[in-house]
Amino acid sequence: MKTVEEIRETIQFQFPKGFWWGSSASATQTEGAADKDGKGQNIWDYWYEQEPSRFFNDVGPGDTSQFYSRYKEDIALMKYIGHNSFRLSISWSRMFPNGVGEVNAKAVEFYNDVINEMIANEVEPFVNLYHFDMPMAMQDIGGWANRKVMEAYVEYAKTCFTLFGDRVKKWFTHNEPIVPVEGGYLYDFHYPNEVDFRKAVQVGYHTILSSAKAIQVYKELNLDGKIGIILNLTPSYPRSQHSADLKASNIADVIFNRSFLDPSVKGEFPDELVSILKEEGFMPVIEKGDLDLIKSNTVDLLGINYYQPRRVKAKENLPNPEAPFTPERYFDNYVMTGRKMNPHRGWEIYEKGIYDILINVKENYGNIECFISENGMGVEGEERFRDKEGVIQDSYRIEFIREHLKWVHKAIQEGSNVKGYHLWTFMDNWSWTNAYKNRYGFVSVNLDKDAERTVKKSGYWFKKVSQDNGF
Ligand code: BG6
Repeated sequence: MKTVEEIRETIQFQFPKGFWWGSSASATQTEGAADKDGKGQNIWDYWYEQEPSRFFNDVGPGDTSQFYSRYKEDIALMKYIGHNSFRLSISWSRMFPNGVGEVNAKAVEFYNDVINEMIANEVEPFVNLYHFDMPMAMQDIGGWANRKVMEAYVEYAKTCFTLFGDRVKKWFTHNEPIVPVEGGYLYDFHYPNEVDFRKAVQVGYHTILSSAKAIQVYKELNLDGKIGIILNLTPSYPRSQHSADLKASNIADVIFNRSFLDPSVKGEFPDELVSILKEEGFMPVIEKGDLDLIKSNTVDLLGINYYQPRRVKAKENLPNPEAPFTPERYFDNYVMTGRKMNPHRGWEIYEKGIYDILINVKENYGNIECFISENGMGVEGEERFRDKEGVIQDSYRIEFIREHLKWVHKAIQEGSNVKGYHLWTFMDNWSWTNAYKNRYGFVSVNLDKDAERTVKKSGYWFKKVSQDNGF
């Protein structure tokens, strides 16, 4: 048998001591119990009730892996497959059924139990406050477009910090805040399904402001922890080095990445973004004091979600002046030949993108402490890979993770301050309009067998990676 030292010697990609190994998930995608114990409706519960056919196989947010009742079993599994940390989100509409008012005691009990169970299992809770799940009562008064909703969110955040901040040391104000802007107000894949660029800008602006306000409140409470935001960074690569392509690619970067990254980390919106908004007449309503507040309440910690790059070319066809305004006025997405693709999700797999992001953060964002908060591969019909022993043989996922981790490792060698890697996701879960179409987990869920959990090959592989702190 090999000694520990001998095994260590065979490890080519060794990660720094204390590296955070784990995965991430969100409340609406895992908890279930959508109308139990006083939880109020959120936009997903409502939208599903209205239009079930918008959801893959008509499966709605009530049919999840039932983390609400099975969290103990799930946390034990996290520990088993080598998680030293896990990101979950709190459901605003479980805590405050109407978004504001009296806190729901049952919700407090549930999140206390989950947090305590995680700590008892040495799985550090990373807690996010908002993962796409606006309480319906808040959406009814305009959602993020209304400043009152932003104030209600800050109250909700304060309640969470106060109740759980003695044990939770890593907080996040939002997950991928640009996604509700795109889905809800530009491209029709989230409720309220509007296409209205002006509103999209206002919603995005209020989201950033709400994040800064929550950070301010957190700091005032003097809790000993860190607070950050989780952004989906999609590096933009131009088709060529011609100035028109470079310009188009820069605009895509400014709109889709820097619009949230710059104010979150530097406290300022990029000049290029402000120029575009001014030129087009889409500047949001900004109240006195807002910009100072954003400037003085930047994040301590940055979560980076990375799935795919964006390939961009200069606009070839003039946009239809009648069509509603979208950022595509400025560039065309470009389909490069010879790309490696995830055939299931239609997303390009470009592992070096993760390195490019980390080096960008190192060089242009003060090398702020960061971690990979999501990265993963969604696959349809994974049951066909289940072997006789009942294990899903997802070698493609192992390769996906391994190849991304190699680039994370290289970034660390070059001085990146990246502290961990969380896969999307721990266990196959319900996902927005895609429901159970794409499976992402280390653990599979059999919906026909009372959501039975079984660890996939990638889960066993990850356990070893975490144990060895490398591979
Ligand atoms: C991320 C989101 O952008 O993508 C998750 O944070 C989501 O909530 C994941 O589930 C995968 O998306 P999809 O649509 O492929 O399930």
